[in-house]
Amino acid sequence: MFNGLEGGLEEVLRRIMETASLNDLQEVKARYLGKQGLVTSLMKNIKEIPPEKRKEYGREVNELKNSIEEAIDNRKNELEELGRLAREGAERPDFTVPGKRRDIGSYHLITQVMEEVQDIWVSMGFEVTTGPEIETSYYNFEALNTPEWHPARDMHDTFYTCDGQLLRTHTSPVQIRVMESRKPPLAIFSPGTCYRKDTPDTTHLPMFHQFEVLLVDRGTSVSHLKGTLNHFAKRLFGADRRIRLRPSFFPFTEPSFEVDVSCGICGGQGCRSCRGSGWLEILGAGMVHPNVFRNVGYDPEIWSGFALGTGLERIAMLKYDLEDIRDLLRNDRRFLKGYRRAII
Ligand code: PHE
Repeated sequence: MFNGLEGGLEEVLRRIMETASLNDLQEVKARYLGKQGLVTSLMKNIKEIPPEKRKEYGREVNELKNSIEEAIDNRKNELEELGRLAREGAERPDFTVPGKRRDIGSYHLITQVMEEVQDIWVSMGFEVTTGPEIETSYYNFEALNTPEWHPARDMHDTFYTCDGQLLRTHTSPVQIRVMESRKPPLAIFSPGTCYRKDTPDTTHLPMFHQFEVLLVDRGTSVSHLKGTLNHFAKRLFGADRRIRLRPSFFPFTEPSFEVDVSCGICGGQGCRSCRGSGWLEILGAGMVHPNVFRNVGYDPEIWSGFALGTGLERIAMLKYDLEDIRDLLRNDRRFLKGYRRAII
């Protein structure tokens, strides 16, 4: 047995087999085969061996060296192969891992209601038109027969820009813009964002949405308005719902009406939902005021028409029985998910 090789060749081979990395293996290799290593020192020792035994000794040391080299080479290949498999394994997808659920977005409830309402009007032949949210006082008020001193302006307090423009308080200015740019007859549907200086509460927001409908033709009457509204209400709320018109006032329509739809919960009998009346107010409407026609250069002796408008939030609240308009803006995903229609 060589000095320094107490465990024998077997011990050396075991150490080689136990190396866990190429670095480990490099260390072991240095220990046995390096310049300061075991085999080298055994070679140097040959001087101390009696001359007649030197040949035999040299052969044994060489055999030992070859065995160690071979074992190291084999282990090197093994470690390289193991490394390659580990890398491949890391890249290979594991189909048994539970999947990550992808959160799918959806349209906001107001967008959904807007599209639903728009579909109904478009299917009746109304054309979608839009106008600016920053308006002049003329389009928002004066052209709509609402002069500066008019008390109706109190309800439409709004935000003004430094150059004297304002954030529109309703979608009615679009009527004026469209009539100014076209000749009658026409039938338009105009959705959009509106603003008023209102403090938020369960039924008010300073920023909200409206839609406006305007029809101008010869010989239009309240019965056209009522028939059209009846169809709209049934399409939106259900065939069993009825409407009624109550006299009201808007500066830009005459006569003017508040339009109610029969309560869907009690069927018009009166319940808590409709505060006992059996009816729910859905929109404002009326026959276009002759002054409005004059303001856009239409002859009111020839042309007549009806207009109507309302808040989309109000429609959404009635249709989906919401208690607080502010829920629409709270960004509570539990609320929004309840009214989810996935984006197609
Ligand atoms: N613009 C009115 C409002 O905001 C609603 C309306 C539109 C009424 C058209 C009559 C005709 O209150």
